[in-house]
Amino acid sequence: MKKQSTGFTNPFRPGAGHMPPYLAGRQPQQDEFKRLLDQNVILENLVLTGLRGVGKTVLLETFRPLAQEKGWYWAGTDLSESASINEENLATRILTDVAIATSSIIVGVQESQSIGFVGAGDVSEVRLNYTLLRYVYENAPGLVSDKLKAVLELVAGKLPGDCRGIVFAYDEAQNMSDHAGKDQHPLSLLLDVFQSLQKKGVPFMLALTGLPTLFPKLVEARTYAERMFRVIILDQLDEEACKDAITIPIEQSGCPVHPSEQSVQAVTDVSGGYPYFVQFICREAYDVWARDPNTTVPLKEILQKLDTDFFAGRWAKATDRQRDLMIIISALPNSDGEFTVQEIVETSSTLSGKPFSNSHVNQMLSALSDAGLIFKNRHGRYSFAVPLLARFIRRQENLAETG
Ligand SMILES: Nc1ncnc2c1ncn2[C@@H]1O[C@H](COP(=O)(O)OP(=O)(O)OP(=O)(O)O)[C@@H](O)[C@H]1O
Ligand SMILES: [Mg+2]
Repeated sequence: MKKQSTGFTNPFRPGAGHMPPYLAGRQPQQDEFKRLLDQNVILENLVLTGLRGVGKTVLLETFRPLAQEKGWYWAGTDLSESASINEENLATRILTDVAIATSSIIVGVQESQSIGFVGAGDVSEVRLNYTLLRYVYENAPGLVSDKLKAVLELVAGKLPGDCRGIVFAYDEAQNMSDHAGKDQHPLSLLLDVFQSLQKKGVPFMLALTGLPTLFPKLVEARTYAERMFRVIILDQLDEEACKDAITIPIEQSGCPVHPSEQSVQAVTDVSGGYPYFVQFICREAYDVWARDPNTTVPLKEILQKLDTDFFAGRWAKATDRQRDLMIIISALPNSDGEFTVQEIVETSSTLSGKPFSNSHVNQMLSALSDAGLIFKNRHGRYSFAVPLLARFIRRQENLAETG
């Protein structure tokens, strides 16, 4: 952490997956997760979605101790590098994750090492570790899904009495995809395996987090996914929570800084309540406050830094024509929320420049979705996939006009 010349440590943590100094406003979601943990038969699994930087990863991280307190084991990983995951390596992934949670469970003793289990001496304990799970997997008949079910059913049968079940938590799960062309269906495999185990009463619960494309993707893979998940959509913090996210870490840091109500309000407004932006702006502002508590926060300069550090790289990846389209979108009154192709086409015809046709807009939105700048919800409406992108674009436009 950054040490100040004033001797106080800057508590704010803008960074993917960095636990904030104070997790504001997420009690309702934590309560909802606890409710899911109280299920005896798993009818509902969790999907946690939201825009970039809204706090999915850190919230999922706080679910882990909640689960453990209620007697659940926790298995899982971050799938951000898993764009090319196929069925076989998904199975390996699951075996690896579950083995970490279960490797201390002793399931028997053996006299020799004839089947290759690790152990020392003549009599050794057989544990539910990766070697054993892999052995069972390799020797189970059938397809990948049959093998995986065989292993997981074995695991379920060997869990100690004080274990309620296992949560399988996968972050960035929107990266998993079925590829019909390659005859690889890892997403469907995951859903089939858990649905089948849950039907048999096995207490294994999925907790998937990812961008808003995640849930539509699950439903597209298997229509029953619609009934299998409780979807929690993470939004920006409300005003009160946002103010807590700003002020509580400052109080706790011991720094005798008391930002004025106006400053707190200004940071709240500029951040739009988006957690990443709160952390980013406060990290800069804290240094200023710590040097001189009475200064006003140089919000304009901080925003400029945010534009360079966060937005500019994403903006630079778009083509000129894509930028033209996004400039039109940012001029819509509902650009921070949802918009339609029709609205874009209509606005484009009223603005100067070459108007966009219906099919052209459709085509470009699809390319922008692939680039992670736009997403389409289940009702065919679109949003920017990056929070406050419209405001950034308008700032660029103003700069261009005035500069
Ligand atoms: N409830 C909260 N209160 C205050 N700060 C938060 C809160 N939630 C998240 N943050 C901060 O916001 C930033 C982003 O959090 P996180 O990485 O969990 O978001 P994410 O939704 O997983 O983003 P991505 O989609 O990029 O993976 C981090 O700096 C984190 O400390
Ligand atoms: Mg994340």
